[in-house]
Amino acid sequence: MAAFKLLFLFAYLLILARGQASSNATATYTNPILNKVGADPWVIRHGDYYYMTYTTNDNITLLQSPTLTDWNNASVKLVFNPPLGQNYSTDLWAPELHHFGDKWYFIFTADPNGDSPPPEVDMYCEFNCPAVHHRMYVLESSGNDPWGSTYELKAQLNTYDQFAIDGTYFQHSSGLYHIYSCWYRQYDGWPANLCITKMSDPWTVSSNFSERAIISVPDNAWEKTPYGRPFNARYNSNEGPEQLTNPTTGQNFVIYSAARSDNRNYCLGQLELKGDDPLNPQDWRKNNEGCVFYQNALAQAYGVGHASFTKSPDGTQDWIVYHGMLDPTDGWAARTIRTQKFAWNADGSPKFPRPGYGPYEVPSGQM
Ligand SMILES: *[C@@H]1O[C@H](CO)[C@@H](O)[C@H](O)[C@H]1NC(C)=O
Ligand SMILES: *[C@@H]1O[C@H](CO)[C@@H](O)[C@H](O)[C@H]1NC(C)=O
Ligand SMILES: *[C@@H]1O[C@H](CO)[C@@H](O)[C@H](O)[C@H]1NC(C)=O
Ligand SMILES: *[C@@H]1O[C@H](CO)[C@@H](O)[C@H](O)[C@H]1NC(C)=O
Ligand SMILES: *[C@@H]1O[C@H](CO)[C@@H](O)[C@H](O)[C@H]1NC(C)=O
Repeated sequence: MAAFKLLFLFAYLLILARGQASSNATATYTNPILNKVGADPWVIRHGDYYYMTYTTNDNITLLQSPTLTDWNNASVKLVFNPPLGQNYSTDLWAPELHHFGDKWYFIFTADPNGDSPPPEVDMYCEFNCPAVHHRMYVLESSGNDPWGSTYELKAQLNTYDQFAIDGTYFQHSSGLYHIYSCWYRQYDGWPANLCITKMSDPWTVSSNFSERAIISVPDNAWEKTPYGRPFNARYNSNEGPEQLTNPTTGQNFVIYSAARSDNRNYCLGQLELKGDDPLNPQDWRKNNEGCVFYQNALAQAYGVGHASFTKSPDGTQDWIVYHGMLDPTDGWAARTIRTQKFAWNADGSPKFPRPGYGPYEVPSGQM
């Protein structure tokens, strides 16, 4: 008799569990995924958690969350609070967290004292150039645990004493590379191009200046601000590069941000490495057709860009994490962090969704 009851109880629990599983399978979320101003989000999944870092300007902050789609209750850790009076004390932008060997590395942009160049520097610039001292830096973890580690400044990345922002790592069979937003010359101001250099480890650039290659220039109408600006290169930008590898075909893409980050036209462009040598500009193909991810006025999702890429908890889906604006007239202060699932086109390139607020189905395997 007792065994019979137990059997019923077991069956009842099973039905209950199934009911929950099926209701959770259709669980939804909405954008943004963090209810505060935030830009340049970077997300990486490790173990049972997602880790996010983004531009706070003043410091480097790491968030830890069991879910990709809600960061309001995430654990928050101050990773790096720069000392005053250094070349890296202010404007800490676009941090990214990468795992190499048994250490974790933050790569980020910073400048001295808000980068307000004195007149005898500014006079050399083609346009006004408040970014003339922006450079790339790297922090290294104390150990193999991204959350439990402490982080220390490891090095400045060599960009030949020239403007450098939004740097990222590009991993290839031929080695490790630094891809970042650069100018042609020290005092250009604009345009902001994409440059690549070779690295001998995550904190050392091994290329000399003549090996530095420019792999993309904002020369399409949609890479200029205002759209198609005919007369000079002011605000024409390629920035926020991110490696994206097709998991099935192995094709290597760099998805970057184009136009200007403070207005509705900001969007994502696409480069593909077609040849064997990342340092050879001829080996890269830009998708000149237009942005591959861009504003959706019908959904009031504007100025979408500066993306990073991650997977669903079960590893079966690809997700893009990006920032966008509800009110594009509010400029940088309008940016919030969002995420959506994406797929792949028949030619192996990423097939991004139209940006919006949802509700969307939560990532596969999300509890
Ligand atoms: C990091 O900087 C942000 C932006 O100024 C600030 O809100 C936050 O309190 C800082 N974090 C810490 C721990 O100081
Ligand atoms: C947020 O986290 C706290 C502490 O872990 C927990 O008690 C609370 O239920 C969480 N809230 C939500 C909305 O998840
Ligand atoms: C700070 O930046 C300036 C301008 O790029 C450079 O000349 C100087 O050597 C840097 N200082 C240090 C300590 O790296
Ligand atoms: C830069 O490096 C390349 C390849 O190692 C070398 O051939 C070239 O001579 C170097 N240029 C300078 C100016 O050192
Ligand atoms: C499904 O969601 C409910 C309510 O949010 C939660 O209590 C339960 O643990 C979830 N079940 C699974 C299998 O994730």
